[in-house]
Amino acid sequence: MRMIQQIAAMQSWSENQRCLGRRLVFVPTMGFLHEGHLSLVRDAKTRGDKVIVSIFVNPAQFTPEEDYATYPRDLERDWQLLDKEGIDVLFNPSADEIYPEGYQTSIKVEKLGALLCARFRPGHFRGVATIVAKLFNIVRPHLAIFGCKDYQQLQIVRQLVRDLNLPIEIIAHPTVREPDGLAMSSRNAYLDPQERKAALCLSRSLRMAEALARQGERRAKIILERVTGELKKESLARVEYVSLIDAESLQDVDQLERPAVLALAVRIGKARLIDNQILKP
Ligand code: PAF
Repeated sequence: MRMIQQIAAMQSWSENQRCLGRRLVFVPTMGFLHEGHLSLVRDAKTRGDKVIVSIFVNPAQFTPEEDYATYPRDLERDWQLLDKEGIDVLFNPSADEIYPEGYQTSIKVEKLGALLCARFRPGHFRGVATIVAKLFNIVRPHLAIFGCKDYQQLQIVRQLVRDLNLPIEIIAHPTVREPDGLAMSSRNAYLDPQERKAALCLSRSLRMAEALARQGERRAKIILERVTGELKKESLARVEYVSLIDAESLQDVDQLERPAVLALAVRIGKARLIDNQILKP
């Protein structure tokens, strides 16, 4: 595995590989890798000839009061994990390489980027859309893989690719969970043992919603009330939102008439956790 830190070197490596007819698969990350990321990497290996993983903690997607400075980082460990998976390139640029002095441009996905998490993290998705578009231009992959846990991010990336006519196929990878149901996230590292236990309220409430839908409940109002009630039983949980949304437009739905996404954001201690589940009528 080689590490590339310069944009020009990354672009020219990819250009060479493309000329040799290789299919490039890309997994963008912010590092502090866990099994969820590694599962994306393994998926990537089955889909092409060369796998590129980026590690870049993107300052532009953190609001000023968020955890950019303290976001968990361990490049040495990430390097070892990726090396073991046999990927081809780790792209690890500095913030100055990505946003040099005088940098001015950003990308805003208007509607999808204003809903759900955006109400609590102003500017977050503008930062995500901008870095993803930049990384696509630098890495020049044929395919890129994103996890379904960040469902809104996944839909925003799909929209961005459509709107900007980027010749990149976006693959959605199912959420990877701990054996007890907690969705894997680098921010789980913020949870102390008591908070870690409390965090199970997210997956528990999603399973409850799934059971309700299976029993024939179609009314969003009832599903949302029950899920919110379940989350509120957990005294450490501070609910930001519970929404039942259309899987494409991310707009609230009143009735479960076709598959919809139940999406949650909950703060527990220092961690802001999100999770979601597709509900089928
Ligand atoms: O999901 C993430 O880790 C980040 O938002 C991404 C897609 C790597 C952009 O910084």
